[in-house]
Amino acid sequence: MRIDIISVVPNLLNSPFQHSILQRAIEAQLVEVHIHNLRDYGLNKYNQIDDYQFGGGAGMVMMIEPIDQCITKLKSQREYDEIIYMTPDGKTLNQNISNQLSLKKNVIILCGHYKGVDQRVRDHFITQEISIGDYVLSGGELAAAVLCDSIIRLIPGVLGDETSALTDSHQDGLLAPPVYTRPADYKGWKVPEILTSGNTPKIESWREQQAEQRTKKLRPDLLK
Ligand code: ADE
Repeated sequence: MRIDIISVVPNLLNSPFQHSILQRAIEAQLVEVHIHNLRDYGLNKYNQIDDYQFGGGAGMVMMIEPIDQCITKLKSQREYDEIIYMTPDGKTLNQNISNQLSLKKNVIILCGHYKGVDQRVRDHFITQEISIGDYVLSGGELAAAVLCDSIIRLIPGVLGDETSALTDSHQDGLLAPPVYTRPADYKGWKVPEILTSGNTPKIESWREQQAEQRTKKLRPDLLK
């Protein structure tokens, strides 16, 4: 899979891809992530990428031309399955969207800033608009990092234990059951006995039961 991220603050996107699982996925060439500075496509001697909005009002709007130039250049090099715009008024990200996107070959992610992009970018280039929640961030970069993390960990081979993404919260519509590690008794706080019994079928059914109970209690909306 190849992900191209277009941003006006590309440095914000360095760290998320330089550590842990995402770093290993990139090193293992299971995913390529390319970050593009929109300023490189800016207009005039100021590399301008935003301008005042027509009709007046506070806040700058990202211009269509630099975005068009960047996207058109990328599209001349390969075909893209999706061109995603990160925006608080997009569809709220969920596990199903991440699962679907993890199957794609080439994806562009455009990070919004200021008042957002000229509507014509959304009308003519964007295939999906995604929000990571009902709150407003200073820009789309952190949201893009969240989206990429949730996608990349699903690519086969990225997680060491192939089954571990399948047992995540939300993957089967339920929250994950509680987990414990050593010591089995800490200051009298004991691990549920079943987990140290060695009885795998019983452990499995205990986990299923716990996942259901937890979901009922914490996220009843997921059971509807
Ligand atoms: N840009 C600003 N806020 C955002 C959000 N909540 N989700 C995605 N992109 C954003």
